[in-house]
Amino acid sequence: MHSPGAAAAERAERRWAWIVGGIIFLLVAMMVVTGLHWAAMPPSRVETIDPLTLHMQGEFVESNLGTAVDAQGKVTVRLVAQQYSFTPQCLVVPADTPVTFRATATDVVHGFVVGKTNANVMLIPGFVSTFTARFPQVGEQLMPCHEYCGVGHEGMWARVQVVDANEFMRSAEAGRTLSCVSR
Ligand code: CUA
Repeated sequence: MHSPGAAAAERAERRWAWIVGGIIFLLVAMMVVTGLHWAAMPPSRVETIDPLTLHMQGEFVESNLGTAVDAQGKVTVRLVAQQYSFTPQCLVVPADTPVTFRATATDVVHGFVVGKTNANVMLIPGFVSTFTARFPQVGEQLMPCHEYCGVGHEGMWARVQVVDANEFMRSAEAGRTLSCVSR
């Protein structure tokens, strides 16, 4: 037995059930869309580069890879990762100085970590990964690839030589890029 009042209450409840359901659906949809969007983004700033032409023009041509010091004394290391090596294979950086890395991959996702430092990044084809690190200890560190990139993944690594800052700045004065790859 329904009174007119009860029927009106039921209609109102049904209407509110739809409104609340709609709000929940909207919130879940926002979580899914933003979650997928950010999961698909590379780390740090988003800077794109064409992996098909980076060897031929721009900052990642072979002669520009390695460590460079600009007119303001800012130290930048540029490197490229490919199956299954880093170019250059041996990096030289000054101790206790901020060093900015700029790196990308030509084929698949790679990454690297320098010894036990917090210099740790993922390299994604089509994107330039950038970060700044400081290496307090003089000495040599291993720099392995830490993203599985294929059958040769385990053999993919480079070395980082951390040298005295004054010594580094003297050898950098010629204005060319430095590395410790034996020629
Ligand atoms: Cu490159 Cu693993």
